[in-house]
Amino acid sequence: MSDSVLVAVAWPYANAEIHVGNLTGSYLPADIFARYQRLRGRKVLMVSGSDSHGTPITVRADAEHTTPLEVYQRYHNGFLQLFQQLGLTYDLFTSTQTANHWNISQKMFLALKQNGFLYKESQPQWFAPSQGRFLPDRYVEGTCYICGYTNARSDQCDNCGNLLDPALLINPRSKIDGSTPELRSTEHYFLDLARLQDVVVEFLHLRESYWRPNVLRQSLNQIEHEGLHGRAITRDLDWGIPLPKGDATEGKEWENKRLYVWFEAVIGYVSASIEWSKIHGEEEAWREWWQKPDSRSYYFIGKDNIPFHAIIWPAEIIGAENTFDQLLGSQNPRRLNLPYDVPANEFMNLEGQKISGSRNWAVWASDFLSRYDPDTLRYYLTVNMPESKDTDWDWEEFYHRNNDELVATWGNLANRVLAFANKHWEGKVPEPGPLTALDEDLLRTVNDGFKSVGDELEAVHLRAALAEAMRIASEVNKYLDQTAPWQSVKTSRQDAARAIYTAIRAIDSLKILFSPFLPFTSERLHAMLGYTTPLFGSQKVSEHQDELGVHRVLEYDPAPATGTWAPGNIEPGRALVNPLPLFKKLDASMIEEERARLGAQK
Ligand code: MF3
Ligand code: ZN
Repeated sequence: MSDSVLVAVAWPYANAEIHVGNLTGSYLPADIFARYQRLRGRKVLMVSGSDSHGTPITVRADAEHTTPLEVYQRYHNGFLQLFQQLGLTYDLFTSTQTANHWNISQKMFLALKQNGFLYKESQPQWFAPSQGRFLPDRYVEGTCYICGYTNARSDQCDNCGNLLDPALLINPRSKIDGSTPELRSTEHYFLDLARLQDVVVEFLHLRESYWRPNVLRQSLNQIEHEGLHGRAITRDLDWGIPLPKGDATEGKEWENKRLYVWFEAVIGYVSASIEWSKIHGEEEAWREWWQKPDSRSYYFIGKDNIPFHAIIWPAEIIGAENTFDQLLGSQNPRRLNLPYDVPANEFMNLEGQKISGSRNWAVWASDFLSRYDPDTLRYYLTVNMPESKDTDWDWEEFYHRNNDELVATWGNLANRVLAFANKHWEGKVPEPGPLTALDEDLLRTVNDGFKSVGDELEAVHLRAALAEAMRIASEVNKYLDQTAPWQSVKTSRQDAARAIYTAIRAIDSLKILFSPFLPFTSERLHAMLGYTTPLFGSQKVSEHQDELGVHRVLEYDPAPATGTWAPGNIEPGRALVNPLPLFKKLDASMIEEERARLGAQK
């Protein structure tokens, strides 16, 4: 396979805090995959950012009597801090509120227009005479014409669950000031998905053999049952990306329209790649991931985002053809690569119920980190990752997984072996003498893990990969039970030295096998084993100035990293560093304490 891998991660809306369901849905699997690919020596580009536009942001701003800009900045800054604490190694985590992203999105719009894949059409939309502006559908409430529920949203009724035709709503009222809106005709641009249907279906069929069945089926079913229809890609709004100036937008009414948030957010993957290239002073570097024919792109998203990544984004890429690159000024314009894989995850529930931010039925990531360590979270979220079906976060299970697996199988193994070497061999890796068949067998089992764990990671089967690494750790425990160096040290120091040497070799390799999942503790263990250069690079927050103002981003610097996906080869005589426990054992009382927090007033 190619050695360049694009890791494209869902862009969180900058209107809410991040909970464990969001993490296990897309951000964490992306980081595990990116870390593994880097260890394999591949050229990884992992990008994402805050999704800063659309009604999710304006609704929150209205509710808090503040501006969308302030809401976006507040949550975006929170994401930068959280992702750093969790060790999510985005090469660039930016936002859609940058001059670069606006420019790139407008070029994509123009390319689609030039190629004949956009058309204009008028549709009725609620207009508030009291404010002199159009209202998004979710700003208008009224009585459902199907079931009579009086608090239905104009496009959906929460009582009977039906999608509604806004024009038929009874007694409409504005959620902002209660005034009565009226229907007015408004013109918008539409993406001509009907004409792109065949090429999108072809794109999906080409990936049939290796995509997750649920992702493929959901996409093809939607097309088979409903067909693809034109979709409005502009909105009457004042927050978001303006339409490009020029013949597309002649006439004053277009000044008050913005690109639809879903149309432009997916373009963020390419605009963030271009921004990363500019930051690194290699303006054309992004083409490595976006135009090299055998470069692979993986889109890590939650299942609610599937249509946008498996249908709409590919349609935008195909429709824009070479024209997009031409508008960027390229001499040799080429099309962008289509997604290679979209390993979307299902949802994680919490103690048997759907996670709900408004009811505070959630485990908030930053609150969690005020009490526990990041690798503990990464471990539990990976063993419970909703890769093929919904899963459940259960505090009792969390407690057991931490104490019985992370601490008992892996943490204690590393700790007792290093502590023993420290005590009996003056903190050095003991000289083993000739190895026995038993020792060689164990080392072979561990070395084989680079193939078996690696194969699972390559296929984005992260749960299976971690389970396989844990199985190998148990094999080392069995080996120590058999060789019992704590006993033999009293009778045959050489036997004990050989067993401890072998176990240290195994631990030196296991630290790599675990490192994509548990980067903080693997790095600490690496240092305890006496290495002075780190396995991974470092993260930093930096500030950039553009026409829209100052914006802050998270960056990853791979420079000091030396980790590679290969068995360790630690040598006898190496000086070890005094070991400390890798993980904390939890007290059972935490189960009820944590359960009591759920649903409590914030
Ligand atoms: N903000 C969207 C969500 O949280 C995800 C957008 S992914 C993107 O559901 F690619 F479209 F940005
Ligand atoms: Zn209803």
